[in-house]
Amino acid sequence: MVAVGAFTTGATTVTKPDPTPLGRVVPAPASVRPGGSPYRITEATVIRVDDTPKAHRIGEYLADILRPSTGYRLPLVNRGGSGIQLRLAKGSFGAEGYRLDSGPRGVVITAGEYAGLFHGVQTLRQLLPAAVEKKSVQHGPWQIAGGTIEDSPRYAYRGAMLDVSRHFFTVAQVKRYIDQLALYKINELHLHLSDDQGWRIAIDSWPRLATYGGSTEVGGGTGGHYTKDDYREIVRYAASRFLEVVPEIDMPGHTNAALASYADLNCDGVAPPLYTGTDVGFSSLCVGKDLTYRFVDDVIGELAALTPGRYLHIGGDEAQSTSHEDYVKFMDRVQPIVTKHGKTVIAWHQITGAHPVKGALAQYWGLDDTDAAEKAQVAEAAKNGTGLILSPADRAYLDMKYTEDTPLGQDWAGLVEVKRSYDWDPGNYLAGVPSSAIRGVEAPLWTETLETGANIDYMAFPRLPGLAELGWSPASTHDWDTYKVRLAAQAPRWDALGIDYYRSPQVPWPAR
Ligand code: ACM
Repeated sequence: MVAVGAFTTGATTVTKPDPTPLGRVVPAPASVRPGGSPYRITEATVIRVDDTPKAHRIGEYLADILRPSTGYRLPLVNRGGSGIQLRLAKGSFGAEGYRLDSGPRGVVITAGEYAGLFHGVQTLRQLLPAAVEKKSVQHGPWQIAGGTIEDSPRYAYRGAMLDVSRHFFTVAQVKRYIDQLALYKINELHLHLSDDQGWRIAIDSWPRLATYGGSTEVGGGTGGHYTKDDYREIVRYAASRFLEVVPEIDMPGHTNAALASYADLNCDGVAPPLYTGTDVGFSSLCVGKDLTYRFVDDVIGELAALTPGRYLHIGGDEAQSTSHEDYVKFMDRVQPIVTKHGKTVIAWHQITGAHPVKGALAQYWGLDDTDAAEKAQVAEAAKNGTGLILSPADRAYLDMKYTEDTPLGQDWAGLVEVKRSYDWDPGNYLAGVPSSAIRGVEAPLWTETLETGANIDYMAFPRLPGLAELGWSPASTHDWDTYKVRLAAQAPRWDALGIDYYRSPQVPWPAR
């Protein structure tokens, strides 16, 4: 239901929709003080930005959203005066925080860094009617409720992972996902670039990885890979939405595509066939061969050179075909290679069974009922300085089915309805972990069963915004009953953007 206020002009009564209440935003802002008259965007509105290329790019990004649906010119002009203003200023905003002040003369977004301005733009966007997302001229009015929002993230790492190995996704599909992530202030895009079923990034020194190892996918389709220019374009586009790309090369397990591409990488010198099934745990790099480390050094060196971001993910999960002794030996030798190439190690939490290097982050993907010894090992590593990214599979995995009837996805971690995926606190999820060790939250999307952009939409929505909120919003705002109302209000925006989603009966969706 849209709230309406009626007013009379001469003989006719016009119903004017009230603006979206100031706090009806996902992720929930840290502080909201509604009050005063709204601002109304009209054909006279200008977008005021600092005279720098970065400020202009954010202003143009906002204008590109607003111009098609409002039909207004919305020119970019210099700062000072009424309208929509994006301004950098000194203040206690942090790296990503912002303040949004809305009143009859305009909306001012103030931040200490450009990332904060961009996140403030996402808030402004959500405060406008959903029709603003459409690509043709729509009826307004385009009002933004009066008041002030002060906002900054709970965690610095707010990620989403896309598995482009089990099924390959094009650059355009990845860009579409990046746009969806940006709307919810997610700032890390983890790309799972290699697995048993496909190697998806060109490596000049080992060309068959991509040309042969990337030539198929689950189910036997033609697969694909990113050229270096493709990958640079993903990195550039992500950066334009203030996301950092975290590339993953999964090893020593999950490596059949590499082992199939180069016989010499195998302990017995025999290349296995390409693999298009969905089993896990059957492949391993040859830990005892020196060539393995030349391979790793070459791959990580080329990938690090392509990646401006801080992190490089080395997998390390489900190494069931590697002995524990070999696993530890491998991780001890590979982590310094990542460090040598200037990147910070991230690995799945099994790395806590080896020796995480200083500064490494472990990504927890266990379940609520993972055994206590495994959780204690992760907690011990956290106490010793290893940072944690939380992706509990029975909460944060976007590829788990919502219910038994969900046509896509898997259920090995359980069924994950919308409430279950939202209703946990990263701050106290793992017992014995100091809160300073929790660096954030990530929502992985594995694609054994997913083949299309619409498949991605359906599994990510509506759970992704909830995980984004766990990463961004203060614990004090956490409340399913109020969240589900804010979440429901997002649906018309997804409709306007053409995003398919699961209409969970747990959420009070508006009538379509
Ligand atoms: C994983 O799900 N194997 C990290």
